[in-house]
Amino acid sequence: MLKQRKSIVGLDIGSSSIKAIELTHDKFDYIITAFAQVDVPNEGARRDALADMFRAGGFRTKRISTAVSGKSVIFRYINMAQMSPDEMRNAVRFEADKYIPFDVEEVQLDTQKLMDVGGGGEGTASEMKVLLVAAKNSLVHDQAEMLIQLGLQPVSVGVDAFALGNAYELNDIVSPGLQGSDHTVALVDIGASKASINILRNNVSFFAREVPVGGQDITNAITRRFGLEAFEAEALKRDAGEQINDVQDAVAPVLDDLGNEINLSFDFFENQFEGEVQEVYLSGGSVLLPFLEEGLERIFEKRTRVWNPIEGLKVRSDNVDIDSLNSAAPQLAVAVGLAAIVG
Ligand SMILES: Nc1ncnc2c1ncn2[C@@H]1O[C@H](COP(=O)(O)OP(=O)(O)OP(=O)(O)O)[C@@H](O)[C@H]1O
Ligand SMILES: [Mg+2]
Repeated sequence: MLKQRKSIVGLDIGSSSIKAIELTHDKFDYIITAFAQVDVPNEGARRDALADMFRAGGFRTKRISTAVSGKSVIFRYINMAQMSPDEMRNAVRFEADKYIPFDVEEVQLDTQKLMDVGGGGEGTASEMKVLLVAAKNSLVHDQAEMLIQLGLQPVSVGVDAFALGNAYELNDIVSPGLQGSDHTVALVDIGASKASINILRNNVSFFAREVPVGGQDITNAITRRFGLEAFEAEALKRDAGEQINDVQDAVAPVLDDLGNEINLSFDFFENQFEGEVQEVYLSGGSVLLPFLEEGLERIFEKRTRVWNPIEGLKVRSDNVDIDSLNSAAPQLAVAVGLAAIVG
């Protein structure tokens, strides 16, 4: 009998670290059937690192779901007259130059209706709020080209913030009941170069943004304070030992900046959508910093916790190093979400 099993690799090519999760979906379960993570702090080494990762075997499929991020990806929230999804796509393409700083021919556009605005309720509203995401063609194509040259098969290109939302939703499917109804949560992934934010109301994304502050800025603060080389500062950050208080002191201004920037996004959402962010779920490599969760909770004045995007997923233990998987877990939200995007 043919087995209904489909595998896909969620490949998160971060600015400092590559994460790959192969997720296999059979009738009843989501199973992590392969996993790899490697620190790649410079762009030049990225291609070889990817080649090694996939040459080493362990992955059963070549189907890859990946994401783009950074300055060439833009999120806009716009009000438009009520219209069908097809008309909306056309209208946005036609008027895109009003909203984005790139030539419309240079970008891939994606739109999503968020909610009705104005009027007396569902069906009678005159306008709607729409999320527009634009990513430069060159970014999307270059990344796909690199993967194809490595013998891989890119099947989907998303953005980090939405992948986070998918990982959270998958978590809800495999561990039902963790999230109550009528709930607004903010997912915040703090990587090396940026923090990706996605605010979900009842599992629907209402706000996404990237803030260009991250672990690299934390390391830089340590470099300056202690007069160290970058690699020494990185090591001290990851294992501060008895110097933990001095490290915390050195990075406090960066955490303040980061927390305040993220708070501005919460304020924006709360003003635009008349709702309150109730809880914050943190992920990304920078959350491994022992005092980060507590520090951000103090700034947000909201329940803030690090979440585990692989909780509830089965693992093929003969092919996956469980200890490495578990210690990287908070860093894997984007990769898990990318693998969950396509069934
Ligand atoms: N134990 C640790 N303590 C503190 N920070 C850590 C630790 N381990 C890793 N980091 C930091 O986490 C960051 C990498 O996290 P992550 O893999 O989420 O980033 P990335 O996806 O490569 O970056 P980006 O999303 O910005 O492109 C680096 O800045 C690294 O210094
Ligand atoms: Mg990242």
